[in-house]
Amino acid sequence: MTLLSNPSPTSASLISLRSVGKRYASLAGDFNALIDIDLAIERGEFVAVVGQSGSGKSTLLNLLAGIDRPSSGEIMIDGQALRQLSEKALSAWRGRSIGIVFQFFQLLPTLTAAENVMLPMDFGKRWPARERRPRALALLERLGVADQADKLPAALSGGQQQRVAVARALANAPAILLADEPTGNLDSRTAQALLEVLSDLVREGQTVVMVTHEPSAIRHATRAVTLADGRIVETAHAD
Ligand SMILES: Nc1ncnc2c1ncn2[C@@H]1O[C@H](COP(=O)(O)OP(=O)(O)O)[C@@H](O)[C@H]1O
Ligand SMILES: [Mg+2]
Repeated sequence: MTLLSNPSPTSASLISLRSVGKRYASLAGDFNALIDIDLAIERGEFVAVVGQSGSGKSTLLNLLAGIDRPSSGEIMIDGQALRQLSEKALSAWRGRSIGIVFQFFQLLPTLTAAENVMLPMDFGKRWPARERRPRALALLERLGVADQADKLPAALSGGQQQRVAVARALANAPAILLADEPTGNLDSRTAQALLEVLSDLVREGQTVVMVTHEPSAIRHATRAVTLADGRIVETAHAD
């Protein structure tokens, strides 16, 4: 990894953050979870966001997902200034543009694997109803879990559930796949296999931003952005 200064954001970047801050108000006073973040991420990058617990990694991901809004600064994603979207428009934008994978999978327990993958398509309406199940099966096939399509999540291993969760995140062909410690609840062999899957997706052009604190996960990324106490302290590119 070579240390580089953080590239300056341009409107051509897929993701651009300018002077972004996030402040939480609490009884103990205001707390700055993110401070003056300038960050540009280009199409096709696999960015690892690293840093100690409490450094602001999940806060950053939630801002990129439009789950939360910054207290200051500007976020542009794929030409869209998130600030200009109403709550309703932001939620629709998220459904189209962002796929999210969580540490604890968060599949809906009463739906089969295939139904879990179809759900975002039912909300997104990008694919006609008759194409949703075939597309879900194709995504499960791509993730290597097609044989699990009609099982409930409880019948699957952790690694299989996370593969289904990645398939679900890709359901609407999002511009960006966000993952918050996706290997944090997997054994190391299963974690490596999942990272290989994410790397393959990146090779096919998918942009991925992944929070992790596992060194083995960072090696799969094309760039590591390190946060400490809400600030970017280091940006390293893979050679
Ligand atoms: N909703 C919230 N209200 C108040 N403080 C919060 C909230 N969410 C996160 N924080 C605080 O912001 C800091 C960064 O949190 P987070 O982004 O979850 O860190 P990380 O994911 O790196 O562990 C932590 O100190 C956390 O306690
Ligand atoms: Mg976190």
